[in-house]
Amino acid sequence: MKEFTEAEKQLLITVGWLANRYGLMAGIEAGSESTVENLKRFGNIWFGKYLVDWSEAYENLAAKNYLSETDGIFALTEKGKLARKAIEIDNPLWLYEYNNFFSKAVKSSAHALFCERVYSKNLCQHGLADVFQLNKLLEVLKLNAGYRVLDLGCGNGFITEYLQNQTGAFFQGIDISEEAIKQACQRTTEKNERLSFSVGNMNRLSFEPKIFDCIISIDTLYYVDNLEETMKQTIPILKPFGQMGIFYTQWISNLEDKENLLPENTALAIVLKKHSLKFTALDLTENEAEHWQKKVDVLEELKPQFEKEGNLDLYNYRLNEAVRYANWDLRKRSRYLYHIWLN
Ligand SMILES: C[S@@+](CC[C@H](N)C(=O)[O-])C[C@H]1O[C@@H](n2cnc3c(N)ncnc32)[C@H](O)[C@@H]1O
Repeated sequence: MKEFTEAEKQLLITVGWLANRYGLMAGIEAGSESTVENLKRFGNIWFGKYLVDWSEAYENLAAKNYLSETDGIFALTEKGKLARKAIEIDNPLWLYEYNNFFSKAVKSSAHALFCERVYSKNLCQHGLADVFQLNKLLEVLKLNAGYRVLDLGCGNGFITEYLQNQTGAFFQGIDISEEAIKQACQRTTEKNERLSFSVGNMNRLSFEPKIFDCIISIDTLYYVDNLEETMKQTIPILKPFGQMGIFYTQWISNLEDKENLLPENTALAIVLKKHSLKFTALDLTENEAEHWQKKVDVLEELKPQFEKEGNLDLYNYRLNEAVRYANWDLRKRSRYLYHIWLN
């Protein structure tokens, strides 16, 4: 996507996401229009320190027919929609989101305390898996020092490191966030030769065939561009009889779809069946319901600590997400740990 400047990329992404859940979580009401003011607000929240000056991008994108403007309201043209989609394969909104998150979270004692209370251990988590769930993962995978494991979407690697310490296996972590990987490498390179981290994209896995005994994904597959494509790419890099452990939450918007919450019908399960992969699913739905409420309660208790550190942005970021999912109708979600293996 060399034909776009960084500002143009950010603006196309923002116009694409403003009226979506990312707009809602930034406090922009549903149905809000893409005015310069709303776009800027969205940019400040999601791009944070990575935000660049968009002033020339509006005109440039309109001149190239990627953006249209009517009475101060911007919209993507058909050409703009295609461009945004292509940009987001390598440069998704959450690349900025997670760069922001990890750069703030790792330095925050309030956040460390938050993780300790919510997940029973501070591993700078962003997903939903607490120590109980991670131990369930280890129970099903039965890893040992002879295994080579790929952690897809490893964040800044504290969870990967924890799992490595528990099992002795060799772990390789990839994540799209350069900030997260920088932290993981700085902390572990030369200290633990059974850990390795690199920037990588789950939309394009580039590994030698048959090199991993196991692949894990802890709340990361929601971010891929095409779930079927990503899962298809995991199969050839696993050794024969290789296995996967995947935490996956299924949300539905309509009660009529509730069959889709069953372990054999989630979006992930459908893809697994399509590839004739065998799997079992451990139901963690109850844990998930408690998890979001716990996040809200702990955050409210720790608000003064976040405030004292000057980290109210981080506080609000975590709170907005937690409130959104704590209020989600319990009948409209399910969560599983999938254990998958090659024949
Ligand atoms: C919800 S967080 C989970 C992080 C960690 N596994 C945990 O449980 O705390 C999702 C992670 O996926 C990463 N991610 C999102 N899209 C990605 C992609 N296309 N390729 C690789 N990593 C990606 C994010 O940067 C983030 O670290």
